Amino acid sequence: MEKPSRRNVLMAGGTLGALGALGVASPAQAWTWSPKGSVAGAGEGADPRWVWDEEADPLIASLLDRGDVPKVNKLLRTWKKNGQPLPDGLPADLRDFMERARRLPSWADQGKLATAVEFNEKRGLYLGVTYGFASGMMSTAIPKEARAVYYSKGGADMKDRITKTAKLGYDIGSRDAFQPGGEMIVTCVKTRIVHAAVRHLLPKSPYWSKVADEEIPISQRDMMVTWHSLPTTVMQNLVKWKVPIPASESEAFLHSWQVAGHMLGIRDEYIPKSWNEANAQAEQVLTPVLAPTPEGVKLADILLNLGSLIDGGLLTKPILGSLTRFLLGDTIAGWLRIPRDPLWDPLIQNAWGPFVAVREGLLALPDAPKELQKAYWAFDEILRQGALLYLSEGKLPISIEIPETNRPH
Ligand code: HEM
Repeated sequence: MEKPSRRNVLMAGGTLGALGALGVASPAQAWTWSPKGSVAGAGEGADPRWVWDEEADPLIASLLDRGDVPKVNKLLRTWKKNGQPLPDGLPADLRDFMERARRLPSWADQGKLATAVEFNEKRGLYLGVTYGFASGMMSTAIPKEARAVYYSKGGADMKDRITKTAKLGYDIGSRDAFQPGGEMIVTCVKTRIVHAAVRHLLPKSPYWSKVADEEIPISQRDMMVTWHSLPTTVMQNLVKWKVPIPASESEAFLHSWQVAGHMLGIRDEYIPKSWNEANAQAEQVLTPVLAPTPEGVKLADILLNLGSLIDGGLLTKPILGSLTRFLLGDTIAGWLRIPRDPLWDPLIQNAWGPFVAVREGLLALPDAPKELQKAYWAFDEILRQGALLYLSEGKLPISIEIPETNRPH
């Protein structure tokens, strides 16, 4: 079996990775990705590092400055379904913006979005695990994101923040995702507003300003970096594990994330039109920025401790640490100070591939190595628990709210 973490080790282990490990900031990467590879097919090609959200940012800054946020949060708590009218009483400028922002792009393809739902239903278990332990843990090794999350209001309560972020992963995969009965459009529009608030608030944090290498957070480039930590990374893992995925489903999954990107306020000229383009862009914007930060190390530790809160306590810290090491590789696991585990590290490393093969009907269990037969139950249970963590969220009354402050210190 190919060593599962090899690609990620290579990804993160180059010179830039080594610089990161030494705490040296990676040199800014030139933006050479062509808008021809985007869903727009054309564009200015400006480096998205210097593009934020010109519509939402001034508007939300003004909401914060004029003290409208508590009232708006209260009203927006009742706005849950995509098809639901906006609540009465919202400030007129906000209402205008939200009416525009909630419209799907002209290129949204309902057929593909329906296929994406099928894919999510079939692959929910793997998606839960990869969103959680590849994407989620990777976010702690993306310095700009780790700092923004740590010093914003939500950084003080990571359980709450994770549940809110998981809501987006849950909504995009649920049956009516972008349909009137679903919640993904609402979640995206609210998140776009939250990001605009963060752009106004974080620069006022002396703690963030001291360590940040930028004046305004969450550029369009950062948005794409995080976007790649989600669908691009998830698909790279499923491909690596040889999970059979029909081309139409793979394309549909990408499409659902293209639409999500647009709804989150990313410009169409930065959203890749194909997996090839996505992989190429990720290689340029995500891979070179991965690095440890004190904030990311603390966030990773908090996240790994959260698993034990799940019923049954099966997802203990060593298992979650080993899963992270397996998915992100030794280099990133080292950055995040995840200790090696003599039991779970080799088990997951050696038995995951055959385990997936058995689940996918590509290998009969009796033909699988003895070690796998023993591990099979444990893995299946981990997947189930991981998915439970990801899915149970749907039962909680979660409301994404506009923050008014940074992390209290
Ligand atoms: C808030 C998702 C990119 C930093 C949120 C929330 C969601 C979300 C669902 C609402 C949860 C909450 O309020 O706690 C996403 C997605 C992204 C993305 C899907 C890209 C595709 C980024 C980037 C950064 C960032 C690039 C920073 C560099 C934050 C911060 C909050 C937030 C600081 C606010 C937490 C608070 O309330 O204090 N994001 N995000 N996000 N996001 Fe993002």
